[in-house]
Amino acid sequence: MVKVFFHRNNDEVLETDIEEGKTLLDAALRLHVKEIPADCKGNCACGTCHIHIDSRWVDIVEPIDLASLEPFVLEKCSNYDEKLSRLCCQIEIKESYNGLTVNLLGSDIK
Ligand code: FES
Repeated sequence: MVKVFFHRNNDEVLETDIEEGKTLLDAALRLHVKEIPADCKGNCACGTCHIHIDSRWVDIVEPIDLASLEPFVLEKCSNYDEKLSRLCCQIEIKESYNGLTVNLLGSDIK
């Protein structure tokens, strides 16, 4: 099991344990994170699972697959940040991600 943390406005932290091979979206759904409605159910189409990776984890989390739709979906999201933005549904949990911390955003899309 891998522990992951979702920070909300720097004053509330949601945490859960998630199995390797699941996605960060699975962890968010387990916690019923309201900022992550995941309208497309993890199909990399809606952008409503957009988060910012904590800067300490940016170089540890596997980079975006540029052949996927993720970069195109992210560019349409509010609060898009080239370095920090990711879609929860596209982050597959690995053992080395234990302690992974991400920051929640609004779920709006431009
Ligand atoms: S759940 Fe829709 S893009 Fe991730």
